[in-house]
Amino acid sequence: MINVLLLQGPNLNLLGRREPHIYGTDTQQSIHDRLCRLAEDLGARLTTFQSNHEGELIDRIQSAPTEFQGILINAGALTHTSLALADALTSVALPFVEIHISNVYARESFRHHSHLSAGAAGIVVGFGTTGYDLALQGLLGRIRGQGA
Ligand code: DQA
Repeated sequence: MINVLLLQGPNLNLLGRREPHIYGTDTQQSIHDRLCRLAEDLGARLTTFQSNHEGELIDRIQSAPTEFQGILINAGALTHTSLALADALTSVALPFVEIHISNVYARESFRHHSHLSAGAAGIVVGFGTTGYDLALQGLLGRIRGQGA
C-alpha cells in the first residue's frame, strides 16, 4: 500500500468561502473526502494535514519519510516566500507534486515565482480543485515508476 501525505498551507482551510471566483466553492473537507476515496480506488492511502503555520508544515515534512512514499502540497502563499519549506522538501527527498488551484501565472507577478517548483516531481496549476485529483494520479504513477 502506498501512503501519500497531502499538505495544505495557510488559508486553504477557508476554501469554499475564500474568494470563490478564484478558488471555487468546494470546501477543504469535501476535497479531502473526495481525494481519500480516489486514493483508495487507486490502491493508496491518503493522509491530510492543513496548517497556517510554516513550522508545523516543516515538522510534518521532516517526519514524513517514516510513513509516506510521496507528498502532495499546496503551500498557499508560502510557495512564493518560504525557502525553509523548499529546503525541508528537498531534505527528505520524497517525490512531491506542487498544486495550485488557480493559474498563478495569470495573477499578480508576486505569484509567478515558486521556491518549491525546482524540486518537484511535477506541478499542477490552474485546474481548480480537480488539480488535487490530477496530482494524486501523477504522483502515484511516479512512485510506481510509470511516470515519464
Ligand atoms: C494558491 C495560490 C497562491 O498564490 C495563494 O497564496 C494561495 C492559493 C492556489 O491554490 O491557487 O493561497 O496556492
